[in-house]
Amino acid sequence: MTTTYVFEDAETEADAMLRHLAGMYDPFSTRRLASAGIARDARALVIAVGASSIASTIADLAPDGEVIATDIDPQHSPADPRVELRQHDIVTDPLPGTFDLIHVRLLLGHLPQRLTVLGKLAEAVRPGGVLLVEEFEGSWSSSVLAAPDPDEADRLFGAYHDAFQAALRGSGNDLTWSRRVHGALLDLGLEAETEGFTSTWAGGTHGCLLPRATAGAIREKLVRAGMAPTDIDAFRDLLLDPRLRVKGNLALSTLARRPV
Ligand SMILES: C[S@@+](CC[C@H](N)C(=O)[O-])C[C@H]1O[C@@H](n2cnc3c(N)ncnc32)[C@H](O)[C@@H]1O
Repeated sequence: MTTTYVFEDAETEADAMLRHLAGMYDPFSTRRLASAGIARDARALVIAVGASSIASTIADLAPDGEVIATDIDPQHSPADPRVELRQHDIVTDPLPGTFDLIHVRLLLGHLPQRLTVLGKLAEAVRPGGVLLVEEFEGSWSSSVLAAPDPDEADRLFGAYHDAFQAALRGSGNDLTWSRRVHGALLDLGLEAETEGFTSTWAGGTHGCLLPRATAGAIREKLVRAGMAPTDIDAFRDLLLDPRLRVKGNLALSTLARRPV
């Protein structure tokens, strides 16, 4: 089985995916971080920052602290003089010390080494510190809330969903992972609570442009998994239709704290 990051060979659409992910989920992650009780002088680490504004949000919450943001490919991260941006592979590189806060969103499910990496992150959390892990629920097949032709929209979303899940599995992704995070953190000796978030998106907005960009990025993988090229085109067109309304992927945000 291939176990490479599923989006690594689709550079141009990957830009758009990261931007739309940030547009969909940064407000929710910001609320979660605001509820975490982060000290003004906290030392924080953001893993796989992508194009998100999470590192800047943390710099707002901890103006007297230190924020390091990392990614294996850090070129998409917004520039912020308060944030130290580093190229870093979470699987193979050591962590730069211990932290009061570590945030990781939408990465671990892709990594076959997810449990080892989670253990490495948990170990780097100081007593009283927080590890915030945010992942997608694996299933989003019935996401159409309104469409010009709801049955056809359901069919296209179903075809995409099945082929995308097959592509993810083929790349070593664990589709049960979002629901395993909570228990895995308890097993590591942390206290944990989980909250979910989804929202409604019209065609042409972030929640529709994300699957549109994804379908473009992994088009060949979708075709190999059985989705007809004409359905991929129709699906991508539909996602621009302002009459479409979908619910976004359910994000599960698990806030874990190391006991003092
Ligand atoms: C699905 S994106 C999520 C980006 C961001 N966390 C968000 O939620 O908006 C996954 C990110 O993980 C990064 N990534 C992939 N493999 C990685 C690794 N081994 N170590 C660090 N980052 C990695 C990718 O470059 C990409 O930015």
